[in-house]
Amino acid sequence: MHNETDIKKTIIVKVDPENIDGEIMENAAGIIKRGGLVAFPTETVYGLGANALDSGAAEKIYAAKGRPQDNPLIVHVADLGDFEKYCIIENKELFYKLASRFMPGPLTIIQKKSPVIPYSVTAGLETVAIRFPANKIARRLIELSSLPIAAPSANLSGKPSPTLASHVVDDLDGRADMIIDGGPCTYGLESTVISIVGGNVRLLRPGAVTAEQLGEACGNIYIDPAVRGMLKDNERPLAPGMKYRHYAPKAPVTAVGGNDAEIVQFFADKLSGRADTGILCYDEDKEALNDMGFSGENIISFGKKDELREQAKSLFDCLRHFDRLPVKSIYTRIPSDEGIGLAVFNRLLKACGFNMINI
Ligand code: TXA
Ligand code: MG
Repeated sequence: MHNETDIKKTIIVKVDPENIDGEIMENAAGIIKRGGLVAFPTETVYGLGANALDSGAAEKIYAAKGRPQDNPLIVHVADLGDFEKYCIIENKELFYKLASRFMPGPLTIIQKKSPVIPYSVTAGLETVAIRFPANKIARRLIELSSLPIAAPSANLSGKPSPTLASHVVDDLDGRADMIIDGGPCTYGLESTVISIVGGNVRLLRPGAVTAEQLGEACGNIYIDPAVRGMLKDNERPLAPGMKYRHYAPKAPVTAVGGNDAEIVQFFADKLSGRADTGILCYDEDKEALNDMGFSGENIISFGKKDELREQAKSLFDCLRHFDRLPVKSIYTRIPSDEGIGLAVFNRLLKACGFNMINI
């Protein structure tokens, strides 16, 4: 993939979100203004940013990530008033209801694009996804560059999104002009993506702004069937993988549903006599497995069973962790699909390529 893009000398800098270094941020904004690529933290995941009004700059993002040309980018703004510059708000009442409740924050809204947004940003679509992030470093970068910033997650295409600067360095050192290390991302999963084209709220990607919260704010919302994938109640081996296996570790992943004790026993059976099985489970499962004599770095917990936010925050780091281990197959819990859990569930669904079993 490296021949698609120039090898760059990447500047890697730490910035304290509580005491932002103005000079570093001016340098970063200068890179954006000159058409370069800056990776920066947001409250969801790290983004790989470029000037959203410059077609050539946006194209560099696709090359750096190895991203398919048909996958549009999210435009980031630092002022609610900027939405009207870059999209056509058809239903103002609905838009401002959502904005007043969830912005700035982890919500991306798709609307008709304004002509100033190039088609390289929207992958040829007439719609554009826009988000107003809460992260202070992200906002300072947008403000100082005086531009909207197009930014997908700052990972190589197909890898889990980066929630730590070290993930970005692993993927994009030599491919971005600058990487700003602003510490761990608050939520750890990408923003909630909704479309309000035509006046209806359609949830396309679940995130930290939950389906329940959207429903409370604006009544009925339509959840795109892709969010829950092909999982149906009581189905055993559930439908085999779809083409897209985003967020996928190198080893194949099987997600396991059922009651707690049976799942722990299932994990124990898979671990017995094998060193090449990876287990992604809750803290409680890990303790139970330890009590049964199973331990080691191939048993990873992504949080307590009921701590859905903690699970969201650590999931991608856990998935990356498996890629550093010599595991040949990974078994994981199917998390709760309530609240932010739906986002965790959706990402795991993709990580396992819809390979789910109920025991
Ligand atoms: O939290 C986030 O949203 C992060 C941070 C950096 O802001 N960004 C991010 O971008 O996750 P990315 O490119 O990895 O995901 C953008 C998603 C993709 O699934 C893309 O297909 C969808 O948004 N998207 C963007 N524009 C769209 C459009 N016009 N219509 C439908 N989907 C769109
Ligand atoms: Mg992404």
